[in-house]
Amino acid sequence: MKISVRTTGLPLCRAALPGRAVRTMATAAVAAATHVSSGSSSPMSMPPRLFNVRAAQNARLPVQPASPPRQPTTTTTTPQSQTHPLMPPGYIATTATLPTFTIPSVILPTPSHHLLAKSIISAFRRDGIIQIAQSPLQQRLCKEAMAASKKFFALPPEKKAACVDERSYGGYIASGEEVTDGIADYSEIFTITRDFAKTDSRVKAGWPCHGPVPWPENGGMRETMMRYKTELGEEGKRLVRLVEMGLGLEEGELGRWIGDDGKQGEGGWHHARVLRFPPRNKTNGKGKEGRGIGSHTDYGLLVISAQDEVGGLFIRRPSREERFANWEESAAGLREEEEGWVFVPPVGGTHTVILGDMMQYLTRNYLTATPHKVGLNTRERFAFAYFHEPSFQAVLKPLNGGVIPTDLDDSRKKDKGVHYGTHFTNMFIRNYPERITTKRLLAEGRYGLLERPELRTIGAVPTTTTVEKSV
Ligand SMILES: [Fe+2]
Repeated sequence: MKISVRTTGLPLCRAALPGRAVRTMATAAVAAATHVSSGSSSPMSMPPRLFNVRAAQNARLPVQPASPPRQPTTTTTTPQSQTHPLMPPGYIATTATLPTFTIPSVILPTPSHHLLAKSIISAFRRDGIIQIAQSPLQQRLCKEAMAASKKFFALPPEKKAACVDERSYGGYIASGEEVTDGIADYSEIFTITRDFAKTDSRVKAGWPCHGPVPWPENGGMRETMMRYKTELGEEGKRLVRLVEMGLGLEEGELGRWIGDDGKQGEGGWHHARVLRFPPRNKTNGKGKEGRGIGSHTDYGLLVISAQDEVGGLFIRRPSREERFANWEESAAGLREEEEGWVFVPPVGGTHTVILGDMMQYLTRNYLTATPHKVGLNTRERFAFAYFHEPSFQAVLKPLNGGVIPTDLDDSRKKDKGVHYGTHFTNMFIRNYPERITTKRLLAEGRYGLLERPELRTIGAVPTTTTVEKSV
């Protein structure tokens, strides 16, 4: 096991930085940037509330006894009045200097791996984000993915706009199409969802969000992106195992919700987003009138991200005073304009990892989803985010054992669980209300399929009674 703190990283996904930035940041790197906001947990048979906007900002959970305390932190911060050279202009934030963890290729129940696991859990509870070293293979795949990303986003608008599917939410999202907290984001995105053939029984049955990824023709983007996504999936498995160990859980207690153990279907609803952020100009930039991506939490378990050398990611640390539950009420726009944001500068040769809603739900707030947002910088910026998720069909229930807090009341007995597929669908309906995928899903009444038993059983397949005529 190796835990180290880097002040520089390996040049990776891209070229050098000017002057001071080179010495402190190196090149490529890590971190997040995606879209999304939340979903309503309201009656599953009902379409979600599309724009919950500001009320969500005040949504809080009851304070849990094991809420992450404000602990002494190894994260170095600069005074609010100082800005990092890579921080987007106009923002006020402290700057994180994160330790870099090296993740073993195989996780074993050894004392050193247990120590690593506990260190990672501590870092998540302290910082809300961890930084992990890229392997040489990951460095190469990241570099190739960034090159493919730039090639795709340089295509004519009409070619990019053609990459849309009416059944899945895969494919192209134009700048301004994504909505977070009711405000358009300036990010430009290609989403890589689970890629189902049109002949797949789940697609034919009209299961929400199930469909092909509308890849661009030629150019090899599919192969390049899938190689990187697949490798990050392996990293996700290792991280899930480490989280289990760090929480004191048995092997598989967390992983069983993903269903990638070969016993329960085809695995988690893992997906990825290829992101481009335009440079800031007079009509966009900081604030509600135009931002990269507004404040939100992601919705699954873990998000592994890479970013180029430009910089734009901000996160909020776990805080007992800032409770939210995005699966119950939208956390989009959460404290967008308030103090307390932490700029996460790019560090070459690393990925960053943040936590999603379902990790928070499963651990009863012992680990919390990481609020984050993206600011537009003076140059265009590219990033890649991989989402390691539960099975679409999983109905999750809070974990027991280990360090997971016990209840002071019987609320756990009353908890009917969270259906991840519904949470995911709500997210995308909310974020893309005008997309053809959303309109067709609602127009055809397929939202109600999320209630069906086969959509709530990991590994189940459509039954003959499913609404096949809907697609
Ligand atoms: Fe995100």
